[in-house]
This record gives sequence, structure tokens and C-alpha cells, in this order.
Amino acid sequence: MKDKRAILGVTGSIAAYKAAELIRRLMSQGVDVTVVMTESAVNFISPLTLGVLSKKRVYCSLFEAGSTAVPGDGDGPEHISLAENCDLLIIAPCTANVVGKLAHGLADDLLSTVALAVTSPILIAPAMNDAMYANPVVRSNIKLLKGKGVRFVEPEEGELASGKLGKGRLAGIERIVDEVKRILLPAFRDDFSGKTVVVSAGPTREYIDQVRFLSNPSTGRMGYALAGAARERGAKVILISGPTHLVPPQGVRTINVETALEMRKQVLENSRKADIVVMAAAVANYRPKKKAETKIKKGKSNLTLEFEENPDILAELGKKKGRKVLVGFSLETRGHVRRAREKLREKNLDLIVANDPLQDGAGFGVETNIVQIIDREGNVKKLPKLPKEEIAHLILDRLLPVLTKVA
Ligand code: CTP
Repeated sequence: MKDKRAILGVTGSIAAYKAAELIRRLMSQGVDVTVVMTESAVNFISPLTLGVLSKKRVYCSLFEAGSTAVPGDGDGPEHISLAENCDLLIIAPCTANVVGKLAHGLADDLLSTVALAVTSPILIAPAMNDAMYANPVVRSNIKLLKGKGVRFVEPEEGELASGKLGKGRLAGIERIVDEVKRILLPAFRDDFSGKTVVVSAGPTREYIDQVRFLSNPSTGRMGYALAGAARERGAKVILISGPTHLVPPQGVRTINVETALEMRKQVLENSRKADIVVMAAAVANYRPKKKAETKIKKGKSNLTLEFEENPDILAELGKKKGRKVLVGFSLETRGHVRRAREKLREKNLDLIVANDPLQDGAGFGVETNIVQIIDREGNVKKLPKLPKEEIAHLILDRLLPVLTKVA
């Protein structure tokens, strides 16, 4: 979200301390955050904390010393210049009082004035006592704002400041950041909602004995990025993962496997109801014919291992494809586009993503990749070196027309 400017309005709720983490998360995603606090928010968290985190002055009042209140002087009135330089106004946490003020156009402090002056989208994450949240007046204020296009991240159920359990806790920071992305990034639409996507990721391990295995350097990043991107765009995602050190994306059901046979079982089972299957895993093509029952001891001058072929999971899916959309990856060090085209045909795929791991900034273990996306008609989309997260979204973009075709 580089170059995006957000104003974060913080209001007087016990959850105000969570604004600190929200600022950190937004800034780490490249968002330029300017904090505007209400007078009561200052009682809950210090402007100094939020100022240090956002690396700039925090605005707390319409009439602060140093603020430019006279039009024509400097950048003009503070609330106007703030509002003009904003791609999104986020109010998190937002109290019932501020929801009410915004719903009725009241502007008696800096935040409510900015809210009236912005032309950017507004995102509100309410936080309040459950009885207040359920109050018909608050409900109707929220409805009014929603009707005017204001976006909301619903609060969650849990323990409230009163010690009671109920709905009113500020939404998790992850959910707020996801919603910010959906608003600020055109790629974050709900264009995969209603779809079930199975993604495989990471390497497989093929055991020689109880403690040794053959594997490959796949870290699972591309698959995890795809799973995260599909979920952000509204899909129900099942991630079948070989051993990795990655934390699965939020909201994704993750099934851990080790061997190619285990991966096959899980992918086939979970693909039954899937609309899309993306095989980003680096599945071993062979496994040792026999796994030694105990640890193989040294001392032999020569050790020969015999291998047998693993089933090709993607090819199996391709044989009973139906309306399922199938995406494969192809890793080749020579003639990668030609081989990828052959694999697409042989495995009956809709798309194949070809990459050459020997290029700088591509392949295993790096944060970027250089890929070409090939479709059934033979069209090739060559992408420059990009972060795997962005590639994941571009792959999903290429899937959209395919989904319409098979529907
Ligand atoms: N794949 C699979 N099951 C296997 C091997 C591979 O489902 N046993 C999938 C991979 O996840 C990938 C695609 O097939 O999406 C291509 O895998 P790759 O190893 O690059 O190609 P292969 O088909 O194995 O062909 P080659 O013999 O050229 O390596």
C-alpha cells in the first residue's frame, strides 16, 4: 500500500491502546498514517506513543497552538488540509458517541470536522459495550452511515471492559488491515467470494529411514501467498502444506502433510468440493521404494537406494477435471515456457505458472519471483520480478476470466 495516505482517528475507548498496533501494521505495509485523536482518546493513550509510532505530529484539537486556522495562510485550515491529503479515513476504535456524531453530521472537534470534509472512503471499527452496540439508536446510526457508503469492520464477541462477555470488542487488527487493503488496493475485491480454493504449498519429504528424508528447498512462500491472496479476495481457502516455517495466513484452513502420498490424499479429498485447485507444492516425483524400519547405520562402502514413482496429483485431478479450474506450477532450468506448455496440455490444466529458479530473484526461498503465466489458448503473460504476494494476486486476476468461462 505504498504511497497511500490514511488518517487514523482514535476515539475515547479502552481499545484506544490497540491503535498503536494498528499504526505499526499499516506503516509496515507502506501506508503513511496521520493520527487524529479526540479529546477523550488522550485519556486512554498518549499522543506521544502514537506520534512516535506514526513518526509525525499527532493532531488532537481544532485550536491547537501551531495549527493554521486562517484560510490562505500556509496550507489552509488544518481539518481541510488533512482531509485533502487523505486516501482513507479510518476510525478505530470508534465510540458510540462518534458514530452518532458522524451519522448526523455534527462537527464539534477536529476528528468529526475532518470526517465531514474528507472525500475519501471512511472505515469505522466500532468498539463499545455490548448493550450500547445493541442499542437501537446506535444500530440505526450505523445503518444510516452504511447507507451513505461508510464501511464498517464489525466488532467481535469476547470479554469487554466491563468484564462481561458480549459483542463490542474492537475487531482484530488483522481484520481491520484486510479491510483497509480491500478499500485501498483495487486487487482486494471480493471477487473470489463463494469460491472454494485448495492450494498446495511447500516441499514434500520422502523418508529413507525413520530420521532421514529426501526433499527440496521449497519454503512454501508462493503457495502461502496464493492462499492469503485468495482468502483476502473472499474465497474459502484450504491450504495443504508440506513442512515449512511459515505462519499460515489468517482465516485459511491449513492441513499439514509430509510425504507426496499424504499430500495426494489430502488434495484429492479436499478438492471434491473445490472450484479451484492450485498446486504450488514442489511434490517429489519419486520416493524410496523401502523405508528402512530403523535408522540406517554407517559402515557400508556403498549404499544404493531404489526409488519408485509418486503419483502425479495434478495429472490425476486433470483426468476428472469437470468444471474445476486447475493451476499448476512448472519449474524448469531449461526451455521453461515450452515445457510448461506441454505440462499444461498433458495434465489438462487451465493455467500454468512457469519459472526458472536459476534467475536472480526467482525460485526457491526468495521473496520475489519472475514468472510467466500461460493459459490453455497459449497466451503467455510475462511478469517482471515482483514480490510473491503481488504475483499471487496477478495469478488470481488471470483466473477470473477462466472462472467465468467454466461457469
Ligand atoms: N505435481 C503434482 N504431483 C507430482 C509432481 C508434480 O501434482 N507428483 C504438480 C506440481 O505441484 C506442479 C506441477 O505438477 O504444479 C508441475 O510439476 P513439475 O515437477 O515441475 O513437473 P513434472 O510434471 O513433475 O515434470 P518433470 O518431470 O518435467 O519434472
